Amino acid sequence: MRLVLMGGSLRSASLNAKLLGYLARTLEARGHEVSTFSGEALRLPLYEDAEAPAAAVQALHAALAKTQGLLIVSPEYNAGIPGHLKNAVDWLSTMKPSPWAGLPVLLCAASPGAFGGARGLMAWRATLANMGALALPETITVPHADQQLDEEGAPTDARTAAAVPRTLDAFLALVARLR
Ligand SMILES: Cc1cc2nc3c(=O)[nH]c(=O)nc-3n(C[C@H](O)[C@H](O)[C@H](O)COP(=O)(O)O)c2cc1C
Repeated sequence: MRLVLMGGSLRSASLNAKLLGYLARTLEARGHEVSTFSGEALRLPLYEDAEAPAAAVQALHAALAKTQGLLIVSPEYNAGIPGHLKNAVDWLSTMKPSPWAGLPVLLCAASPGAFGGARGLMAWRATLANMGALALPETITVPHADQQLDEEGAPTDARTAAAVPRTLDAFLALVARLR
C-alpha cells in the first residue's frame, strides 16, 4: 500500500521523529511504499493567502493526494497540536482536491510524560473530523519516551512494543477496506 508518515518536531533530537523513522522502516520491511515528511520537511511558511503555496507545501499535498493512508506522529504541546503541524494541516485544508476527505489516519505520539502524548491526539481527532478524515480509534502512544525508545526508535516497554504491530495491522485493515 502507499502510505505517508508525517510528524516529528523541529528539534534535532525529536523523539517523535525517531518513532516515525522506526514505523516507516517497519512498514517498508512489510513491503509498503512509504513517504516521510518529518522534522525540517515540515518547516513551512505560516499560512497566508499566498498566490501559490511554497514548494514544500505542494510536495506534501501531492503525496497526500495519492496516498492510501496517513500516519501522524505528533508531539503533544500543552495538550494540543504543535504549531508547525497544525500549520501544515491548515495549508493542506485550503488546497484542492482536499487530501483529507475519507483519508484513513493512524495517530501516534511519543512523550517523556506518563500519558505518551495521548491528550494531544484528542485535539488531532477534532481537527481531522472537521476535515472528513477517518482516524482509527486505536492509537500508538509511547509514554516515558525519553527512556523507552531504543536507538532505532523502537519502543522498549513490552506492552507498548506488543501494541505496535497490533495497531499497525488494525490500521492496514482499515486502509485495505477503504481502498
Ligand atoms: C511548548 C511545549 C509544550 C509541551 N506540552 C506538553 C504536554 O502538554 N504534554 C506532554 O506530554 N508533553 C509536553 N511537552 C513535552 C514534549 O512532549 C517533549 O518536549 C517531547 O520531547 C516533544 O516531542 P519531540 O521529542 O518529538 O520534540 C511540551 C513541550 C513543549 C516545548
